[in-house]
Amino acid sequence: MVGTEGEKAVDIRRLRVDTGYVAYDQGYGDTASCESAITYLDGDNGILRCRGYPIEQLAQHSNFIETAYLVIYGELPNAARRKDFGMLLRQNAAIETQMQRIFEGFPKDAPPMAMLSSIFASLAAYYPHLATNDFAKDLASFDMAAAMAISKVRTIGAMLYRYQSGLPYVFPKQDLPFCENFLHMMFSEPYKEYVAVPEVSRALNLLLLLHADHEQNCSTSTVRMVGSSAANLFTSISAGICALSGPLHGGANSAVVQMLQAIHDDGDDGSRFIQAAKSGNKSNRLMGFGHAVYKNFDPRAKIIGKACDDLLKKLGVNDPLLDIAKRLDETALKDDYFISRKLYPNVDFYSGIIMRALGIPVSLFTVVFAIGRTPGWIANWHEVASTPKGRIYRPRQIYIGPKRREYVQMAERP
Ligand code: CMC
Repeated sequence: MVGTEGEKAVDIRRLRVDTGYVAYDQGYGDTASCESAITYLDGDNGILRCRGYPIEQLAQHSNFIETAYLVIYGELPNAARRKDFGMLLRQNAAIETQMQRIFEGFPKDAPPMAMLSSIFASLAAYYPHLATNDFAKDLASFDMAAAMAISKVRTIGAMLYRYQSGLPYVFPKQDLPFCENFLHMMFSEPYKEYVAVPEVSRALNLLLLLHADHEQNCSTSTVRMVGSSAANLFTSISAGICALSGPLHGGANSAVVQMLQAIHDDGDDGSRFIQAAKSGNKSNRLMGFGHAVYKNFDPRAKIIGKACDDLLKKLGVNDPLLDIAKRLDETALKDDYFISRKLYPNVDFYSGIIMRALGIPVSLFTVVFAIGRTPGWIANWHEVASTPKGRIYRPRQIYIGPKRREYVQMAERP
């Protein structure tokens, strides 16, 4: 098989039937699990395109909601479509009073991603007419469910922050754009409304846009896998949120800042940490470095590294963690360990520093990543749901457990 951009693949769909063999590919690193028309990624050359548009162009000219529309519907919206989409997002921003009570059932110090995935999954319970677990019916109400997912994941994110901080909820405002509304719900006080300066809303837009979709990463493949059972959009995305929470995936952005903070508190210039990272021990990895598919550079990291510098300069913020990050970046890029293993900064290396400058607490970084990734999850769920004759995702395995043996009564067991 040959993809649009010339990627070559071997079609092994009849391998087991014809030969009795299965293909072994732990972690699916060399396996294409689907055909997809959403995102093109060439990890060797640092290329990322959404629906054909280079990420650099989207970052420069677009914003999060326009890119979300592009990712989901395949084309950039014209003015009328953009307006309708914006209207649907605004109409679906609020969390109903009954649903708000779910927040209070969680401990104040619950992991935010655990709260986000549970509360998000509950959308299937509150809006069962949009989540029937029947592809034909769920596709018929897709526009509404998609808008709800994008708008409410952001509101839930802000509300869980307020709840965990012991602050009263701030509800979405109809007249605010998407990112400004998130910041308003996060940071407004009873008699003092938070008004985002343009640099801040631009930085948040960029951050979310860069995360909008990223091909078959762990969480997106999870969404596809769950969706392939005909599970509805909300349930499938909730599974994606769980997958994103791990430190090797979306959890890396907070791990980076924790790592930079630990280096700072130790009074280390980063060299001790780099030395430890080279031990090969998984728990000492240089967080924000390396990528499963980018083996040259992560184009998102280039964009975000520069945006980070610009934002901090414009806001007049002097963050010692940025200096440490830059030192680590320079040192690692000259070190043979990192060069020979093709380990470069990934999108998470600088995104945490931007979020710090925006006032977002470290505990919420991965929640912000989830808000950004929701359009990609939606688009991938839609692709699965609308593929004619799509089959349930069900890989094989190589069994390496005990051979057949006979049941032993408890009294006779050693
Ligand atoms: N620091 C030190 N060594 C590393 C690192 C790192 N960050 N990443 C990989 N290595 C080493 C690894 O020990 C192995 O060495 P050796 O060949 O001697 O055994 C080699 O590089 C290849 O590692 P791998 O685990 O086979 O690489 P992978 O492509 O399977 O893993 C990764 C990709 C992202 C999980 C990994 O690089 C990592 O753990 N990075 C840190 C976590 C991180 O920043 N994750 C965010 C990813 S980007 C956001 C997203 O899309 O989720």
